[in-house]
Amino acid sequence: MPATTMDQLVALCKRRGFIFQNADIYGGMQGVYDYGPLGVELKNNVKAAWWRAMIYERDDIEGLDAAILTNRKVLHYSGHEDTFSDPMTDCRKCKGRFRADHIKDGKCPNCGSTDLTEPRPFNLMFKTTVGPVDNAENIAYLRPETAQAIFTQFKNVVDSTSRKLPFGIAQIGKSFRNEITPRNFIFRVREFEQAELEYFVEPGDDEKWHEYWKEERVRWWEEQGLPREHMNIYTTPKDDLAHYAKACYDIEYQFPHGMEELEGIANRTDYDLGNHTKAQEEFGLSAKVHANSESTQKLAILNDEKKKWEVPFVIEPSMGVDRAVLALLTEAYTEEDLGEGNSRIVLKLKKHLAPIKVAVIPLKKNNEQIMNKCHEIKQNLLKLGIGRVALENTGNIGKAYRRHDEVGTPLCITVDFETIEQQPETVTIRDRDTMAQERVKIADLPNYLREYFLQK
Ligand code: GLY
Repeated sequence: MPATTMDQLVALCKRRGFIFQNADIYGGMQGVYDYGPLGVELKNNVKAAWWRAMIYERDDIEGLDAAILTNRKVLHYSGHEDTFSDPMTDCRKCKGRFRADHIKDGKCPNCGSTDLTEPRPFNLMFKTTVGPVDNAENIAYLRPETAQAIFTQFKNVVDSTSRKLPFGIAQIGKSFRNEITPRNFIFRVREFEQAELEYFVEPGDDEKWHEYWKEERVRWWEEQGLPREHMNIYTTPKDDLAHYAKACYDIEYQFPHGMEELEGIANRTDYDLGNHTKAQEEFGLSAKVHANSESTQKLAILNDEKKKWEVPFVIEPSMGVDRAVLALLTEAYTEEDLGEGNSRIVLKLKKHLAPIKVAVIPLKKNNEQIMNKCHEIKQNLLKLGIGRVALENTGNIGKAYRRHDEVGTPLCITVDFETIEQQPETVTIRDRDTMAQERVKIADLPNYLREYFLQK
């Protein structure tokens, strides 16, 4: 199991600019984090890998980018207004409020008092008002999951793409939950990012597709660098299922704080499209939450063989992007003993995830000839479209290597006096993991790097 601790990750993230506490200068906001210069690159690379696997490498999934502000009716008919809550207990002595399942031995976790209220439901959605008048009619929510807009845009996507079952709609974006006890760094937060696929299937085929997506998603996580033996598949007991699910697998990962959910893969049946469709009775649906949806559209698809309109079932692989970042950092963080009292921290991220792909480093600081050559190399490498190429001008090669090891830069290219004084022009390429160095002609760099970054 990875021996990385949360303290090591938090320290690295702050030191090297991956993740900062939000509003740090005012004491922070609990459960809200900001991604720094390298964090935003890593997170974008994770999202790009997911998008590529979902949309570009397949022919059966379309993308969507819907609004965060959500019409109240959507979350009324989805059941979130009624059921998206955690039971909470108040301490009458210290006035603290806690999730009921976090109370141990009937005692307040803050002050130890046993004078506690009975658990009461606390809705996790952030409520706001839209427009200048602050009244009940103008209530809207920050979405608690990206999924709902996929359901409400189902007909528009089908009409504009002529899709037939099975097919999916995928989306990446922010969601918000007023977690009672955010904790474990970016694991449980109030503002977070989700990457969700809603995969629409023929009713009756849902269990087969549920199994398919479980396997597919484990395979994807392995490709991102999480070994199978650090993951676990948890089958949610019936009593613990979300209000919309018939069955759910959690892909769990061995985080520093324990084996916890990384991605949920739920069988949502026809629950959501059923709740949001008009004329529910036409499809033999009994409304699951509120009868007579005010929806103006039938969220159904024509089955050409059966010559009948059907409300599809849905399989939903739902990944937490922040949890993905945390898992990948946990797995990649390595402390290596180099002997003779030396050690290094190295972030062994897969190269497609690394925030900086190549660092171009001058052997000597502020040497005009060397710096000009570094600029020229950087400009040429950018044309390859491999991602961020960083130019250093610190003049301390050892320090630059350590810094780039710590942030996971796969390759460092060093420009020295030999580069500018001898023909053909050559540079040194240093590999992050092996620390091996080789001399390569500048003219060969494009092919060398193209091949290197094409390999998985
Ligand atoms: N859409 C599933 C979830 O947000 O948990």
